Amino acid sequence: MTESKQADIFYPSEEVINQANVPEYEALYQHSVENREEFWAEQADTLGWYKKWDSVLDESNAPFYKWFDGGEINIVHNAIDRHLENANRNKMAIIWEGENGQVRNFSYNGLNREVCQFANVLKSMGVEKGDIVTIYMPQIPELVFAMLACAKIGAIHSVVYGGFSTEALASRIDDAQSRVLITADGGWRRGKQIDLKSIANDAMMRSPSIEVCICVKNNELDVEMEPARDFWLHDLKALPIASSKCDTEQTDAEDPLFILYTSGTTGKPKGMVHTHGGYSVYTSTTHRMAFDIKPQDRWWCAADPGWITGHSYIVYGPLINGATIMLYEGAPNYPYPNRWWQIIENYGINILYTSPTAIRGLMRFGDRWPQKHDLSSLRLLGSVGEPINPEAWRWYHHVIGQDKCPIIDTWWQTETGGFMICPLPVTPLKPGSATKPFFGNVMTIVDDDGNEVPANEEGKLIVNNPWPGMARTVFKDPERYKELYWSQDDNGNWRYLAGDSAKKDEDGYIWVIGRMDEVLKVSGYRLGTAEIESALVSHPQVSEAAAVGLPHELKGNAIHTYVILKQGVAPSKELSMELRAHVGNEMGKIATPEAVEFVDALPKTRSGKIMRRVLKARALGQDEGDLSTLEE
Ligand code: PRX
Repeated sequence: MTESKQADIFYPSEEVINQANVPEYEALYQHSVENREEFWAEQADTLGWYKKWDSVLDESNAPFYKWFDGGEINIVHNAIDRHLENANRNKMAIIWEGENGQVRNFSYNGLNREVCQFANVLKSMGVEKGDIVTIYMPQIPELVFAMLACAKIGAIHSVVYGGFSTEALASRIDDAQSRVLITADGGWRRGKQIDLKSIANDAMMRSPSIEVCICVKNNELDVEMEPARDFWLHDLKALPIASSKCDTEQTDAEDPLFILYTSGTTGKPKGMVHTHGGYSVYTSTTHRMAFDIKPQDRWWCAADPGWITGHSYIVYGPLINGATIMLYEGAPNYPYPNRWWQIIENYGINILYTSPTAIRGLMRFGDRWPQKHDLSSLRLLGSVGEPINPEAWRWYHHVIGQDKCPIIDTWWQTETGGFMICPLPVTPLKPGSATKPFFGNVMTIVDDDGNEVPANEEGKLIVNNPWPGMARTVFKDPERYKELYWSQDDNGNWRYLAGDSAKKDEDGYIWVIGRMDEVLKVSGYRLGTAEIESALVSHPQVSEAAAVGLPHELKGNAIHTYVILKQGVAPSKELSMELRAHVGNEMGKIATPEAVEFVDALPKTRSGKIMRRVLKARALGQDEGDLSTLEE
C-alpha cells in the first residue's frame, strides 16, 4: 500500500489489485443495487442446493422478508459435505492451538467424521429438527463440532459465550427452553483452569428445562456430574450409536439455523434468529469478496465462536469457502506478548481478523514483540467490533502489516449476520472509516425526522433494503423485531435502523461513531446497561442502579455504575468491591464494572426512566443537554 500526499488515504498496491477476486468496486456496486435480486441469485448459485428457490426475495410480508424461499439447502452441506467430493477433502479445515501449546488439526474429512459422530450423539439424546440446543463452551474444536452437528440435523443452536456467567447463561437457556446443554468441564486462560461446568450446574438449577447435559473433557478439573442428566462426550462417542456416518438433513432455506442472544435497548437480551439459506449466501459472499479468499489461505478470525463474529467468520463463511481456519484458546499475551505473532509465523497465517481493543492491547507492549517474528505471510488484516482509532489503525498497518496489507474494517452487527460496510482490498482506505456499503446495500445517514443529513453531519445510520444475511426475527417476539429495527419512510419503504450514529463524508465514506442506545461496547463486547443494572439490583443490599459507559483507552468503553443502597445499608469500599464481584459472578468477567459509586438519587424522566446520558455528561464534566424531561 502506498500512502498518498493527502496524508490520510491509503491506496492499494499493484500487487493487491492484480490478485483481487473483485478488481473494482463502483461498477459492481451500482449493478448490485440496481439488480439486487439478480446479484444475490448469482451468489446463491455458487452454493450447493438440494432444490433451487422459487423466489429470491419475498417482500409480501415486509419487514418479515424471506430469501430464497422454496429452496432446500443445509449450511453443513456447503460447509463440509461438498468439500468431501473435491480436493478439499484432505485439506486442513481447522488448526487449533491450546494455550499450553497443544495442537489439534482436522482435515475437512476429519471434521466431517467429528461432526457426524456428534450429530449421532445428539440424535441418540432425542434431539430433533427444530429443537434448540444451548452450547456453552470454551474455544475448542468441539464447540465448532457442536454447532455444525446441530445444523446438520436441522436443530437450532444457541451459543452462549463461554466468558458469560450463571445468570447470563440461565436466562438464555430459559428463553430458548432448551432441553439439551452442551458444555465442557472447563477452559484455560493465563495458565489457569476456568471452571465452566460448575457455572453450568448453577445455571441448570435456575433454568430447569435442561434434561440432558453433554460435557466435553478439556482439562483436569474434578467436576460434579449429575447421574442421568450429565454425560461425558467421550463416553457417548464410544457407543455404537455414534457412528461416523450421518446424513445431512435437508432444511428449507428459511428454516432457523441458530439463535444468538444480543443486548438491546431495553430489558432482556434478544434472541436474533438466522436461517440456513440467506445466511449461507451472505456470510460466504462477504467473506470471499471482502477478504479476497484464495484456496490456499489460512484464515484467522481471532474472535470467540460464541459471538456473531465467530459464527459468521470463524465457522460458517470460511468453511463454506473451503478455507483453513485457525483457532486459539487462550490469552493473546500468554505467556508473553508475542503469542499471536508467533502463531502467525508458525502456521503461516495469511489473514488476521480481530478487534481494535485487541490491537490496542498488543500495541501497548511495543514493536519489539511483533518484530521478533516473520509476519510476511500476512496479506490482509481485518478489524471489527467498534470504531478503530487512527493510531491503532496505523500501528496495525505499519508494524503488523508492514505497510503492504490493506486493513479491512468491517461494520456489521449480530442482527445483520455479515458485513454491511467494508472495503474490498482494492478500495482506497481512510483510517477509522469502514469505507463503503457492501454490495446490494444502500445506507444513509438520517436525522430524527428520517431525512438524509448533509455530508459530514452526524445522524442515524440506516439500511434502505433487505439483504440475505439479515436476522429474520427476534425469537418468540416478532413484534419487538419490527418495532425495534424497522420503520417506513414517506413512500412506504421499509428501512432498518442500526442503532448507531454515523457520518458520511463527501467521498461517500461512512464513519461510524458509536451506539445511540443503551448498548455498551466494552472491549468490543456488546453489553446492555439493563443487564448490568439488573445484576446489581439482584444483590440484597441494592435498591436501584444505573450503568453507563465512559471512554477507556484500551477497552473503548468502561462500565461505570451508580448505586442506591437499601435503607440502613452504609456505603463502604468493601461493599463497592463486593458489588463489582457480584456483577462479574452473575454476568461474566467482561461485565465487571470499573467503578461503583454510591448515590442518593438517580436522574430520571417524569415517567421514571433513568437518564443515563445525564450521568455520563456529569461524569465527563460535559454539558448535560436538554433537562426539560428531568423529574424535579
Ligand atoms: O456499534 C457498532 C459496533 O458494534 C455493534 C454491533 O455489535 P455486535 O452485534 O456485538 O456485533 C459485533 C461484531 C459484528 C454495532 O452496532 N461495530 C461493529 N463493527 C464496527 C462497529 N463500530 C465501528 N466500526 C466497526 N467496524
